[in-house]
Amino acid sequence: MIETKLTKSLGLKHPIIQAPMAWAAGGELAAAVSRAGGLGSIGAAYGELDWMSEQFGIAYGQRVACGFITWAILQKPALLDYALEQQPAAMIFSFGNPSGLVQKVQRYSIPTICQVQTFRDAQHAIELGVDVIVAQGSEAGGHGEKRATFTLVPEVADYIAANAPKTLLCAAGGICDGRGLAAALMLGADGAVVGSRFWASKEALVHPNMQNAAIRANGDDTIRTKVVDLIRNLDWPIRYNARVIKNDLIEKWHNKLSDLEKHLYEETKKWNKGLKNGDPNKVAAFVGEVAGQIREIDYAETVLESISSEADSLLKERSRYVLK
Ligand SMILES: Cc1cc2nc3c(=O)[nH]c(=O)nc-3n(C[C@H](O)[C@H](O)[C@H](O)COP(=O)(O)O)c2cc1C
Repeated sequence: MIETKLTKSLGLKHPIIQAPMAWAAGGELAAAVSRAGGLGSIGAAYGELDWMSEQFGIAYGQRVACGFITWAILQKPALLDYALEQQPAAMIFSFGNPSGLVQKVQRYSIPTICQVQTFRDAQHAIELGVDVIVAQGSEAGGHGEKRATFTLVPEVADYIAANAPKTLLCAAGGICDGRGLAAALMLGADGAVVGSRFWASKEALVHPNMQNAAIRANGDDTIRTKVVDLIRNLDWPIRYNARVIKNDLIEKWHNKLSDLEKHLYEETKKWNKGLKNGDPNKVAAFVGEVAGQIREIDYAETVLESISSEADSLLKERSRYVLK
């Protein structure tokens, strides 16, 4: 078993947080991860009351976290109140300035987790007194930015060690097995946030056709793009884009965003139809570069335990590299 400051502070068996993935991370996945000893989270994302209420209902009885997309929830403050009433195990914010949100959550003594994509945003979150910083590298599935996990995590770890030793750190982006978790711990993190690998689990709210597209893909088949936000009419700040698996739709529009704007009505209609049918040619699967390491769709508990036990074995076994 691996014990870190994260497991001790949040009362976990494994130093793994399941990422709050929009629409994919519902109550069933969050509860399964928490039940198995990680921290599961509901991906409340852009905030929709009916969906949140249904998912919190499904997770009822398990201590799960709730994650919002910062810029979106700033426009719907009542939904943060609703989430807080559910007494989540933690609140997770990502993508935008979380100042006001963090201050509010702190008044409820609920742990705050902020996912950041740059060193500067990590510094800001640390100044706000956030409990757990998640340094997210560009390998990640879904939205993100340019920095790589391998350099962002140690840079933030050094800053935390020197300036805010009580703040905890997790690595996100590209972690889907024990090698990734062990590496994250070596880089100075106290744990890992895992998204894509749980997206490819039996409890995720994802059409099996989309999951199978991820099994067929490798890391080269993914791309960071703005196409998916334009088509879904989501007003994401310019600095962020989303990693998805390339398909004909993405190939067609990735370098022609202004042309896409002229065809938005038809393309959005086709997207929505594809979403309903789970058609990976019409809708892009939000998966990270770890697509190349996902071989099957397992139960979340199996995913969690295999990542943790593999990391445990590796950390013990690799000490043989050190000459006595
Ligand atoms: C399908 C999908 C949806 C995501 N949605 C969100 C989201 O709503 N809010 C958020 O903070 N992060 C979201 N993310 C990013 C994750 O929080 C996390 O950073 C990422 O999954 C970690 O990288 P990995 O996919 O390589 O594990 C999403 C990721 C995926 C794969």
